[in-house]
Amino acid sequence: MTDPYENELRARFGSDVELGVESGGEVPDDPGLRRMLTRRTQRRYLDRAVPDSLVRLLLAAALSASSKSDFQQASVIWLKDRARRDRLAALFPDMPWIGNAPVFLVFLGDARRLERLGTLRGHAQDNGALEGFFNAAIDGALALQSCILAAEILGLGTCPISVLRNRIDEVAEILELPDKVFPVAGLCLGYPAQPGFISMRLPFEASVHIDRYDDSGLAEAVDAYDRRRDARHSIADRQRAPERFGTAQFYGWSEDKARHAMALEGAGFATWLKAHGFTFDEPR
Ligand SMILES: Cc1cc2nc3c(=O)[nH]c(=O)nc-3n(C[C@H](O)[C@H](O)[C@H](O)COP(=O)(O)O)c2cc1C
Repeated sequence: MTDPYENELRARFGSDVELGVESGGEVPDDPGLRRMLTRRTQRRYLDRAVPDSLVRLLLAAALSASSKSDFQQASVIWLKDRARRDRLAALFPDMPWIGNAPVFLVFLGDARRLERLGTLRGHAQDNGALEGFFNAAIDGALALQSCILAAEILGLGTCPISVLRNRIDEVAEILELPDKVFPVAGLCLGYPAQPGFISMRLPFEASVHIDRYDDSGLAEAVDAYDRRRDARHSIADRQRAPERFGTAQFYGWSEDKARHAMALEGAGFATWLKAHGFTFDEPR
């Protein structure tokens, strides 16, 4: 018997990767899981409106995500006003999908609401410690991913947008964010204009540990992954900043990401957060 998810797992991890997930016929064949395993980011959308009622349904799915302590520290801004959207999109000309997608949402970590509840109930408490930031960021991220999966299940495409944090002062002004409310990521949403492609993931050797953390095999696992990924979709002709790093003979994912990480994205975000209510201290 063939495994129900064999094709999806091969598409995600590569055909020669051993994941040890052969079900022996015990795992139900589920179309939702099939979609999840083959999910992909989409940056081009059809010129087809997404009905408001559908967006509301996706927001309901997003806000059904689990939430630390049931504090419910995720909020969403649905950016409907064209002028405001255009001002935001103009900050990121390299990513035209921010302005072009039929729908644009911004998922927020909202550490403010819990503070307001405390004040309303007469138990005022500062929520600007690292714990407040961390919990709100996680709630925002879980809501974001829940929205992504719900959208993809219904045949829509999405693209999260964390680049918002690179221009945080302007973004916060456009979205009128109060203190202790911060963007986790935007989310472009629409019907995909093309099939897109499945982005291969690292093998379990690099990302799953049994009983204790052990990354002694990382270099080998990543090297094999780089070559698998290159065989599927080479990025050799898109080397990042060759004037700074030179031209690599073999240019794989790990070289690309190591260069990418040197770009210091998000510089200024910590300063902004500290100026807007977060201390990152221990709770007091
Ligand atoms: C938190 C987060 C922020 C992201 N920010 C951006 C972004 O600003 N612009 C963009 O084009 N893609 C963005 N992406 C999409 C990633 O580039 C994409 O998820 C990654 O390349 C893996 O591809 P896949 O989602 O198709 O598997 C973001 C993804 C996540 C999860």
